[in-house]
Amino acid sequence: MASSKTPPASFSFRPAFAERAKKELAKYPPSRKQSAVLALLDLAQRQNSETNCVTDAAMDSIAKMLEISRMRLEEIASFYTMIHRKPIGKYHVQCCTTTPCMLRGSDSLVAAAEQKLGIRIGESTSDGLFTLSRVECIGACANAPAVQINDDFYEDLSKEHIEKILDNLAAGKPVTAGSQIMRRGAEPMGRSETGINKRSDYEMS
Ligand code: FES
Repeated sequence: MASSKTPPASFSFRPAFAERAKKELAKYPPSRKQSAVLALLDLAQRQNSETNCVTDAAMDSIAKMLEISRMRLEEIASFYTMIHRKPIGKYHVQCCTTTPCMLRGSDSLVAAAEQKLGIRIGESTSDGLFTLSRVECIGACANAPAVQINDDFYEDLSKEHIEKILDNLAAGKPVTAGSQIMRRGAEPMGRSETGINKRSDYEMS
């Protein structure tokens, strides 16, 4: 259980989020304002950072803003996996276990995360800090194995790396996203037989 708090009965965008919602709506003609639906769902979820989900009250409010049926909005919210209708942890740890990550050791990362957090995939820690999920390719295969935590990617991970990252997040310490072996982007690891090893090898002089 990520949170046992009763969700608020009402919802309105706070000024900073209302401003962002206004900008999203301005991207479309008034007759097509429903095109902003995902942006508004995402903003509502970000505003509700305590439980990282879109509450019923927020759904009602967005349905009204967009003049869209509540059922239609529910269909959209439930289709996209980045939108949560139930509370999740402050940190959503999404472990990629698709083939490239699996071949590079994602199973051991999942096992390490489960052990470190004391939960299984699909569960949340009782303090509401972490939710652990297994996901399909997150598009960082060249830096496999990779894990996404909220908006950030952590790449070139080992079991020790993920344990340290989770420890630091739990302790409120800073963590560094990106390659954990300080690889720049997806540049070659070690020496390549092609002779292309660093950026200057393929840049025109
Ligand atoms: S398979 Fe894991 S990022 Fe693509």
